[in-house]
Amino acid sequence: MFIVFEGIDGSGKSTQAHLLADFFESRRILFILTHEPSDGMIGQKLRSLTSRLHPKEESRLFLEDRVDHVKRVIHPAMRAGRHVICDRYYYSSAAYQGALGLDPVEVLDFNRSAVLEPDVVFLMVVSVETALKRIELSRSAGFSIFEKRKNLEAVSGIYKTFQDHVIKRIDGEQTESEAHKEIVNWLILRGVCT
Ligand code: TYD
Repeated sequence: MFIVFEGIDGSGKSTQAHLLADFFESRRILFILTHEPSDGMIGQKLRSLTSRLHPKEESRLFLEDRVDHVKRVIHPAMRAGRHVICDRYYYSSAAYQGALGLDPVEVLDFNRSAVLEPDVVFLMVVSVETALKRIELSRSAGFSIFEKRKNLEAVSGIYKTFQDHVIKRIDGEQTESEAHKEIVNWLILRGVCT
C-alpha cells in the first residue's frame, strides 16, 4: 500500500509517519519510510534553496523530483512487496505552490497524470495557531512570524478544499498516540495489518 502523510508545517505529519514506521517494524511488516523533497539530486537542490522561485518553476522542480523519487524509490519498493510511507507528496505542491498563486486543481491534475496515485493520504488537520506553536523558531529563521502565519493560513486554506476519495483527515489537535491509534485502526479495518 502506498501511504502518504500530508499537512501544514507543524501539523505532526512527520511524527505520525515515524510512529507508523515503528508500528510496522514491531509487526515485522515490510515497508520503507521516505519523504519529499526526496534525497535525490533535484530534492537536494530544492532543500538547499535559500529564496523562493517563480511558483511555476517551483512546481516544475517538485514534480521533477517526484518523478525521480517514484522511479528510484517508491516503485521498486512497491514491486518488492513493501508498503511505502511517504512524508509529503503532490498534495504539498497543490497547497504550497497553490499558496503562491498557482491553481491547486491544475497542479493536482497535472501531477496525477504524471506519477503513481497513493492508496491513502492521511491529512493531519490542525489550526494555524497550533502549528505555529509547534514550529521551533529556528526552523523559520529568515521568516517573520507574521509572514509564516500568512503563508500557513494560505496553505491550510487550500488543504481544506481537497475532496479526493483517498484523503482521510486526522485530527492533529489530539495527542500523538490518539492520532496514531486512529491511523492504525483505519489500516486494520482495511486489512493492511492486524
Ligand atoms: P518538510 O516536510 O517541512 O521538510 P522538513 O521537515 O525536512 O523541513 O518540507 C519542506 C518544505 O517543502 C515544506 O515547507 C513544504 C515544501 N514543499 C513544497 O512547497 N512543495 C512540494 O511539492 C513539497 C513536496 C514540499
